[in-house]
Amino acid sequence: MSKSSIEQQIGLLFADAFTALDMDADLGRITKSQRPELGQFQCNGALPAAKRYRRNPLEIAQDIAEKVQSSELLKSVEVTPPGFINIKLADDFLASSVNQLTDDALVGIETTESPEHIALDFGGPNAAKPLHVGHLRSSIIGESLKRTLRTVGHKVTSDIHLGDWGTQMGMMIEAIKKTNPELPYFDENFKGEYPKKSPLDVTEFMSMYPEASQLCKSDPEEMDKARQATLELQQGRAGYRALWQHIRNLSIEEMKPDFERLGVTFDLWYGEADADPYVSVVVQEAKEKKIAIESEGALVVPYTDDKGKEQAPMILLKSDGAAIYATTDLATIKERVENLKMDRCIYVVDNRQDLHFRQVFNAATQLNYLAKDKLTFAGFGTMNGPDNKPFKTRDGGVLRLTDLIKTATDLAYTRLKETGAQERFDAEEMADIAHKVAIATIKFADLHNDRKANYIFDLEKFSQFEGKTGPYLLYSAVRMKSILRKAEESGLMAGNIMAPTTEEERELMLAMMSINKAVETTIENLQPHHLCDFSYGLSQSFSRFYNACHIMAETDKNKQQSWLGLTKLALKQQERILDMLGIAIPERM
Ligand code: ARG
Repeated sequence: MSKSSIEQQIGLLFADAFTALDMDADLGRITKSQRPELGQFQCNGALPAAKRYRRNPLEIAQDIAEKVQSSELLKSVEVTPPGFINIKLADDFLASSVNQLTDDALVGIETTESPEHIALDFGGPNAAKPLHVGHLRSSIIGESLKRTLRTVGHKVTSDIHLGDWGTQMGMMIEAIKKTNPELPYFDENFKGEYPKKSPLDVTEFMSMYPEASQLCKSDPEEMDKARQATLELQQGRAGYRALWQHIRNLSIEEMKPDFERLGVTFDLWYGEADADPYVSVVVQEAKEKKIAIESEGALVVPYTDDKGKEQAPMILLKSDGAAIYATTDLATIKERVENLKMDRCIYVVDNRQDLHFRQVFNAATQLNYLAKDKLTFAGFGTMNGPDNKPFKTRDGGVLRLTDLIKTATDLAYTRLKETGAQERFDAEEMADIAHKVAIATIKFADLHNDRKANYIFDLEKFSQFEGKTGPYLLYSAVRMKSILRKAEESGLMAGNIMAPTTEEERELMLAMMSINKAVETTIENLQPHHLCDFSYGLSQSFSRFYNACHIMAETDKNKQQSWLGLTKLALKQQERILDMLGIAIPERM
């Protein structure tokens, strides 16, 4: 079933009116009203029509209004100078539209007509290095996009694309060689089996990285050694591969619980290294097609941007023959298209990697791996601290996801206790609620912003139970649940939704009718903040409705059932949208 929006349905009416007056149908476009006191929707087509047909706009508007006046979809049509048409919907039409949402499994969200198999590349942590806020943002936004794209019917394969093939691996190998030179991994003549157990645990690995990287930065000789080790690793030196495997496995083991707590999952835990078998193929093809050229010993793919300006080339192989970040990204595209049969790749990565992805996409399209419009960089801005500088922990270090979740959970406990929650719930339920509130706090704080913009992460502010915050949305959804529970206990059922009799009902219904638009815009721009806006708007409309319409005290049974019907639908929509944001709702709160 096509679930055309109110704007579309009314738009058809107006398009017909314009054509009946020998004018173009596109003039009938309907938008939400800028001035709700005059109408719910408006049509401004008379203004461009006046230019196009050299007529008076006010007269056109009046002619159009006259034509549509009798439609049973509309309650009133009023014209204001210089030619705006203000529209109010007929209450019966509104109610019947909302009843259709009630019967729909997707509560009004339309599925896509052209489903694709999408590789969604997000998370992107690096082996042996701690997660940082960029990985946090990527994970939160990526998870939400994954859920949203799936809801409308795309097949989405999420891939963490672990950073595990770059120089940091060589640095680690060299660092371990220094502290534990006796280990068999470094003995080139070693013929036995390498130990199954890792020589170091993950904390030890991770504690080595900062020093190793510092050393390489300050000492070119050390950097050379690290590069050499990386190259040998990539070329298959057995001991290095065995040691590398330990680092990789332990890193994954370490980060898995963090991602789980955050409610972020991946279908593939592939890394840069997994594209290694495709590197030689990609290099070969790039050479054959003369897309790659030699430059100062390295193999590069020149890149001219859309404006015809020559940009830095993409390095395919360094002069020592080693593969780098761009190489594995290009090879991964080849793997995704050829092996995994994907139609499209979306990357959720920090804005600062914009050039990198443009270079890679340029090479991939020239090699005919994918068309340009099937490669999307969904970049995001930085998460800043209250000082508006990139977020740091109190001790100035990198943020650890475990610590962030813990801080948010502690804060959630404090807030919940302020509402007397610990007297109502046992410890286990308290813990569950606090966790959900914490995750909602962190995720909504991130997702409600324009993805591309930087934002200030203020845990204090975003943990409030009032205002545009995750906890407020949970609170609002929980209240809907509790209303429905109480009604059920009193034997009251949700029923057919009747024509609205109050402005608050009307407003709530209109809010609910806009769900598809919110999802559509989110997908079009890969911007979950449209879902956040919808969710917040719905909560607010519901709250006003709830204050105006006293459900439990209502004596008109039909009205009461209708109001419960509205509550039920509002909850269903809220559950859907919060699910797409990756936010779970507690039963009670
Ligand atoms: N590991 C990278 C980093 O920490 C992010 C990976 C993003 N994904 C990709 N396909 N390059 O910056």
